[in-house]
Amino acid sequence: MEPHHVHDVLIPETDLEGRVAELAAGIGRDLDGRELVLVGILRGSFMFLADLVRSFHRHGIRTRIDFMILESYGSGTESSGTVRLARDCSIDVAGQDVLVVDDILDTGRTLSHAVRHLESRGALRVRTCVLLDKPSRRVVPFEADYVGFPVPDVFVVGYGLDYDHYYRDLPWISKVTFTG
Ligand code: IMP
Ligand code: MG
Repeated sequence: MEPHHVHDVLIPETDLEGRVAELAAGIGRDLDGRELVLVGILRGSFMFLADLVRSFHRHGIRTRIDFMILESYGSGTESSGTVRLARDCSIDVAGQDVLVVDDILDTGRTLSHAVRHLESRGALRVRTCVLLDKPSRRVVPFEADYVGFPVPDVFVVGYGLDYDHYYRDLPWISKVTFTG
Protein backbone atom coordinates (compact mmCIF):
# COMPACT_ATOMS: atom_id res chain seq x y z
CA MET A 1 0.00 0.00 0.00
CA GLU A 2 1.25 3.49 -0.77
CA PRO A 3 1.60 5.98 2.11
CA HIS A 4 -1.74 7.22 3.33
CA HIS A 5 -3.62 7.98 6.50
CA VAL A 6 -7.18 7.57 7.74
CA HIS A 7 -7.23 10.06 10.61
CA ASP A 8 -10.03 12.23 9.28
CA VAL A 9 -13.40 10.99 10.50
CA LEU A 10 -16.12 11.84 8.00
CA ILE A 11 -19.08 10.18 9.76
CA PRO A 12 -18.78 9.38 13.47
CA GLU A 13 -20.29 6.32 15.14
CA THR A 14 -23.23 8.13 16.70
CA ASP A 15 -24.30 9.56 13.33
CA LEU A 16 -24.14 6.09 11.76
CA GLU A 17 -26.18 4.64 14.58
CA GLY A 18 -28.86 7.31 14.31
CA ARG A 19 -29.14 7.11 10.54
CA VAL A 20 -29.35 3.30 10.50
CA ALA A 21 -32.30 3.48 12.90
CA GLU A 22 -34.01 6.06 10.69
CA LEU A 23 -33.45 3.97 7.57
CA ALA A 24 -34.85 0.84 9.22
CA ALA A 25 -37.93 2.73 10.38
CA GLY A 26 -38.52 4.20 6.92
CA ILE A 27 -38.05 0.88 5.13
CA GLY A 28 -40.39 -0.74 7.65
CA ARG A 29 -43.12 1.84 6.99
CA ASP A 30 -42.88 1.22 3.22
CA LEU A 31 -43.16 -2.56 3.76
CA ASP A 32 -46.63 -2.37 5.21
CA GLY A 33 -46.37 -5.63 7.15
CA ARG A 34 -44.77 -7.71 4.41
CA GLU A 35 -41.61 -9.64 5.16
CA LEU A 36 -38.31 -9.00 3.50
CA VAL A 37 -35.44 -10.93 1.99
CA LEU A 38 -32.27 -8.96 2.64
CA VAL A 39 -29.41 -9.56 0.24
CA GLY A 40 -26.13 -8.06 1.40
CA ILE A 41 -23.38 -7.52 -1.14
CA LEU A 42 -20.17 -8.91 0.30
CA ARG A 43 -17.92 -7.90 1.62
CA GLY A 44 -18.56 -4.18 2.16
CA SER A 45 -22.11 -4.46 3.49
CA PHE A 46 -21.47 -6.77 6.43
CA MET A 47 -21.35 -4.20 9.23
CA PHE A 48 -24.14 -2.00 7.90
CA LEU A 49 -26.35 -5.05 7.36
CA ALA A 50 -25.64 -6.35 10.86
CA ASP A 51 -26.81 -3.07 12.39
CA LEU A 52 -29.73 -2.74 10.00
CA VAL A 53 -31.18 -6.18 10.78
CA ARG A 54 -31.05 -5.58 14.52
CA SER A 55 -32.92 -2.35 13.95
CA PHE A 56 -35.50 -4.19 11.79
CA HIS A 57 -35.92 -6.67 14.61
CA ARG A 58 -36.63 -3.86 17.08
CA HIS A 59 -39.29 -2.59 14.66
CA GLY A 60 -40.88 -6.07 14.48
CA ILE A 61 -39.93 -6.61 10.83
CA ARG A 62 -39.36 -10.22 9.80
CA THR A 63 -36.32 -10.72 7.61
CA ARG A 64 -34.42 -13.51 5.97
CA ILE A 65 -30.78 -12.77 5.29
CA ASP A 66 -28.54 -13.87 2.48
CA PHE A 67 -25.48 -12.59 0.66
CA MET A 68 -24.15 -12.22 -2.84
CA ILE A 69 -20.56 -11.64 -3.86
CA LEU A 70 -20.11 -9.28 -6.77
CA GLU A 71 -16.62 -8.35 -7.74
CA SER A 72 -15.46 -5.38 -9.76
CA TYR A 73 -12.72 -3.76 -7.72
CA GLY A 74 -9.07 -4.73 -7.97
CA SER A 75 -6.72 -3.89 -5.15
CA GLY A 76 -6.67 -0.12 -5.72
CA THR A 77 -9.37 2.50 -5.57
CA GLU A 78 -10.63 2.30 -9.16
CA SER A 79 -13.33 0.01 -10.50
CA SER A 80 -12.34 -2.37 -13.30
CA GLY A 81 -15.55 -1.73 -15.22
CA THR A 82 -16.89 -5.26 -15.33
CA VAL A 83 -18.91 -6.93 -12.60
CA ARG A 84 -18.77 -10.65 -11.94
CA LEU A 85 -21.23 -12.61 -9.84
CA ALA A 86 -18.87 -14.72 -7.74
CA ARG A 87 -21.54 -16.06 -5.38
CA ASP A 88 -25.30 -16.04 -5.82
CA CYS A 89 -27.70 -15.98 -2.89
CA SER A 90 -29.25 -19.31 -1.87
CA ILE A 91 -32.71 -18.15 -0.79
CA ASP A 92 -35.28 -18.53 -3.57
CA VAL A 93 -36.22 -14.90 -4.22
CA ALA A 94 -39.04 -15.68 -6.68
CA GLY A 95 -42.16 -13.76 -5.65
CA GLN A 96 -40.36 -12.10 -2.73
CA ASP A 97 -39.82 -8.53 -1.60
CA VAL A 98 -36.06 -8.10 -1.77
CA LEU A 99 -33.85 -5.38 -0.33
CA VAL A 100 -30.31 -5.29 -1.67
CA VAL A 101 -27.92 -3.76 0.83
CA ASP A 102 -24.52 -2.37 -0.06
CA ASP A 103 -21.93 -0.14 1.54
CA ILE A 104 -21.61 2.49 -1.16
CA LEU A 105 -23.10 3.41 -4.51
CA ASP A 106 -20.26 4.63 -6.69
CA THR A 107 -20.30 4.04 -10.46
CA GLY A 108 -23.59 2.16 -10.09
CA ARG A 109 -22.31 -0.96 -11.87
CA THR A 110 -22.50 -3.31 -8.89
CA LEU A 111 -26.03 -2.48 -7.77
CA SER A 112 -27.54 -2.29 -11.24
CA HIS A 113 -26.06 -5.72 -11.94
CA ALA A 114 -27.40 -7.10 -8.64
CA VAL A 115 -30.92 -5.75 -9.25
CA ARG A 116 -31.07 -7.12 -12.80
CA HIS A 117 -29.89 -10.50 -11.56
CA LEU A 118 -32.46 -10.73 -8.75
CA GLU A 119 -35.25 -9.63 -11.10
CA SER A 120 -34.18 -12.34 -13.53
CA ARG A 121 -34.59 -14.83 -10.67
CA GLY A 122 -38.20 -13.73 -10.34
CA ALA A 123 -38.15 -11.40 -7.34
CA LEU A 124 -41.46 -9.57 -6.98
CA ARG A 125 -39.92 -6.26 -5.98
CA VAL A 126 -36.27 -5.35 -5.64
CA ARG A 127 -35.35 -2.26 -3.68
CA THR A 128 -31.88 -1.04 -2.80
CA CYS A 129 -30.36 0.49 0.31
CA VAL A 130 -26.86 1.90 0.55
CA LEU A 131 -25.11 3.49 3.48
CA LEU A 132 -23.20 5.95 1.27
CA ASP A 133 -23.82 7.48 -2.12
CA LYS A 134 -21.24 9.22 -4.32
CA PRO A 135 -23.56 10.69 -6.97
CA SER A 136 -20.74 12.51 -8.77
CA ARG A 137 -19.10 9.18 -9.70
CA ARG A 138 -22.01 7.56 -11.50
CA VAL A 139 -21.25 5.81 -14.81
CA VAL A 140 -24.43 3.74 -15.05
CA PRO A 141 -27.66 5.67 -14.40
CA PHE A 142 -28.85 4.26 -11.09
CA GLU A 143 -30.40 5.63 -7.90
CA ALA A 144 -30.84 3.71 -4.65
CA ASP A 145 -34.24 3.70 -2.95
CA TYR A 146 -32.71 4.34 0.47
CA VAL A 147 -29.49 6.27 1.10
CA GLY A 148 -27.80 6.79 4.45
CA PHE A 149 -25.47 9.67 3.58
CA PRO A 150 -24.39 11.34 0.35
CA VAL A 151 -20.60 11.75 0.30
CA PRO A 152 -18.26 13.80 -1.90
CA ASP A 153 -15.85 12.17 -4.33
CA VAL A 154 -13.27 11.10 -1.76
CA PHE A 155 -12.11 7.58 -0.94
CA VAL A 156 -13.65 6.41 2.31
CA VAL A 157 -13.04 3.45 4.61
CA GLY A 158 -14.49 1.94 7.75
CA TYR A 159 -17.80 0.43 8.84
CA GLY A 160 -17.28 -2.34 6.27
CA LEU A 161 -15.56 -0.33 3.55
CA ASP A 162 -11.95 -1.20 2.78
CA TYR A 163 -8.80 0.02 1.22
CA ASP A 164 -6.93 -3.06 0.01
CA HIS A 165 -8.88 -5.16 2.55
CA TYR A 166 -7.82 -2.98 5.49
CA TYR A 167 -9.92 -0.72 7.72
CA ARG A 168 -13.25 -2.56 7.38
CA ASP A 169 -13.21 -2.84 11.16
CA LEU A 170 -13.27 0.90 11.91
CA PRO A 171 -16.55 1.66 13.71
CA TRP A 172 -16.86 4.98 11.81
CA ILE A 173 -16.33 6.27 8.25
CA SER A 174 -12.95 7.90 7.61
CA LYS A 175 -11.55 9.69 4.63
CA VAL A 176 -8.36 8.26 3.11
CA THR A 177 -5.63 10.82 2.46
CA PHE A 178 -2.89 9.67 0.12
CA THR A 179 0.42 11.19 1.13
CA GLY A 180 2.92 9.39 -1.13
P1 IMP B 1 -19.79 0.62 -8.00
O1 IMP B 1 -20.07 -0.68 -8.70
O2 IMP B 1 -18.77 1.45 -8.72
O3 IMP B 1 -21.01 1.41 -7.63
O4 IMP B 1 -18.96 0.27 -6.73
C1 IMP B 1 -19.46 -0.23 -5.62
C2 IMP B 1 -18.34 -0.87 -4.82
O5 IMP B 1 -17.10 -0.18 -4.96
C3 IMP B 1 -18.71 -0.77 -3.38
O6 IMP B 1 -19.48 -1.88 -2.98
C4 IMP B 1 -17.36 -0.69 -2.71
O7 IMP B 1 -16.93 -1.99 -2.40
C5 IMP B 1 -16.43 -0.08 -3.72
N1 IMP B 1 -16.16 1.35 -3.43
C6 IMP B 1 -16.56 2.44 -4.13
N2 IMP B 1 -16.15 3.58 -3.56
C7 IMP B 1 -15.45 3.23 -2.46
C8 IMP B 1 -14.77 3.97 -1.42
O8 IMP B 1 -14.71 5.21 -1.37
N3 IMP B 1 -14.18 3.22 -0.44
C9 IMP B 1 -14.20 1.86 -0.42
N4 IMP B 1 -14.84 1.13 -1.36
C10 IMP B 1 -15.45 1.80 -2.37
MG1 MG C 1 -15.02 -3.03 -1.66
